[in-house]
Amino acid sequence: MHLPRKILTAISVLTLLIIGGVAAVKPPKGPWKNLQVLPEDISEEKLDSIMESYNNALGEGCKFCHVPIENSTDKFDYANDSLPMKRNARDMIKMVININKTYFYHKKEERPEYLNMVHCNTCHRGEAFPPEPDEKNEKRKKKKH
Ligand code: HEC
Ligand code: HEC
Repeated sequence: MHLPRKILTAISVLTLLIIGGVAAVKPPKGPWKNLQVLPEDISEEKLDSIMESYNNALGEGCKFCHVPIENSTDKFDYANDSLPMKRNARDMIKMVININKTYFYHKKEERPEYLNMVHCNTCHRGEAFPPEPDEKNEKRKKKKH
């Protein structure tokens, strides 16, 4: 396809304006590339401890939600959203923040994203798919006999 040079120039100028505009509106606040729910300026220490708590609550590893980098067993492309588990987990994070913010926001100096009166393990108890109460009671009954 041969576009006249004027149009090509206009397209490049527009592209630059758009890229420039996006960058001006949203300056990066931390080293993180794709935090949509957790605070963008979260410290590495805090993010690590939160992520560890997901592993513990679900009884899984980082690879449950994060895509491994090719030819590596222990490195991940953490900002990548292609695994549905990560996207579902993000909804769960939103839900937990909402519950805490609505019902347990007593200490106003605390950031609502960091409240953990209700947390993943409140429901999950080490299982990625928490069983319904009936199933759990069945298990308990079986153990007793
Ligand atoms: C249950 C799913 C789940 C598990 C398990 C999990 N993560 Fe995450 N991780 C997420 C979600 C969801 C986000 C994005 C949060 C947001 O949008 O605010 C995220 C974001 C991150 C980021 C920020 C990436 C960026 O630049 O945007 C890092 C780093 C990270 N996780 C590391 C880890 C590590 C290390 C582990 C294992 C110890 C781990 N995660 C385990 C779901 C998970
Ligand atoms: C109020 C209870 C509750 C809390 C709190 C909770 N979850 Fe869940 N979660 C569930 C239930 C129930 C399921 C199973 C849904 C199903 O089987 O379809 C589930 C499923 C999931 C799944 C699998 C999603 C799927 O269907 O593919 C992920 C991942 C997950 N939770 C992550 C989290 C994380 C991370 C947190 C903490 C930020 C969290 N959950 C907090 C109840 C909860």
